[in-house]
Amino acid sequence: MPPVKATPETIARAAGIIKAGGIVSFPTETVYGLGADALNPSAVAGIFEAKKRPFFDPLIVHIADISTLDKLCLNIDRRAEKLTGKFWPGPLTLVLEKKDIVPDLVTSGLNTVAVRIPSHPVALALIKASGTPIAAPSANRFGCLSPTTARHVESQLNNDIDMILDGGPCSVGIESTIIKIDSSGLYLLRSGGIALEEIEDCAGEKVLIKNAGDIPEAPGQLPWHYSPEKRIIITGSAPADDIRGGFLYFTTPLQKSPAERTLILSQKGDLKEAAANLFSHLHTLDSMDIDTIYAEPLPYNGLGAAIMDRLEKASKKFIKNS
Ligand code: TXA
Ligand code: MG
Repeated sequence: MPPVKATPETIARAAGIIKAGGIVSFPTETVYGLGADALNPSAVAGIFEAKKRPFFDPLIVHIADISTLDKLCLNIDRRAEKLTGKFWPGPLTLVLEKKDIVPDLVTSGLNTVAVRIPSHPVALALIKASGTPIAAPSANRFGCLSPTTARHVESQLNNDIDMILDGGPCSVGIESTIIKIDSSGLYLLRSGGIALEEIEDCAGEKVLIKNAGDIPEAPGQLPWHYSPEKRIIITGSAPADDIRGGFLYFTTPLQKSPAERTLILSQKGDLKEAAANLFSHLHTLDSMDIDTIYAEPLPYNGLGAAIMDRLEKASKKFIKNS
């Protein structure tokens, strides 16, 4: 089913679908989400079904109002208040101890729940009109590229969901940063739309990086993820004469590669703009008749770290499968 433009009428219709236990894809400022009523386990089960997502992978609960956080979580301390005060609404997800009202299916049986307030007006309007928190993973098939336009959602999940709300391209373009807060400290579970440096500045303490163990706490920690169909090679010296190659550069082509197979993340070298273009350029390259995507490495500072995390995970899938 084709996406429908988000308007007050279509948002009201989408909210009706959520209340009735259905599934709606909707825009957030990071990527498109695949939403269902977070407090209705059978609706949530539909998300796993549509995404072909394993049940061990918990979902983020989206709320529109800070007062809802109290209904879902325990032990919301001063550190959580500082971070939510500064970054919400926006691309930060906090993992906190959960209350019983949150179904186990949402959290895959963990005693914590991931929550965020998105800043996209359509997401906020949908959550408010639904009158319930909305559980939503990114609206892609498990392990595949995240969608930053309604068309990306349509091409991956078309027939398995009830409605796709089109709110234009996502402005941040990579997923939220996930921080777990517990009594022992702050932990980065996934890098994302807010740079680690900014979070540490606000919290006034170091954020510890959780290394992926055998059971990752966030699949963002799986060694491969966010993968296009084509193989990705990260290199500063791409073979521009590879006629089956596509080329992804940061600001300007390092080699003289064919224009129709060359994409630039940000001509002015702006990491925010590069993040916003990342998935959509990978979708575009993935749809070309090529075998390999050569991606230039970006600097690891600020959002560059989150961009490199996604490129590295995408490139590892190929190594794993080959
Ligand atoms: O920007 C985003 O975060 C987007 C938009 C739609 O909000 N959502 C998103 O969801 O990226 P998803 O499902 O693709 O990634 C959510 C991540 C997963 O890696 C999951 O394992 C982790 O959040 N997660 C959820 N609940 C968790 C919990 N209780 N403990 C640790 N990790 C959790
Ligand atoms: Mg995802």
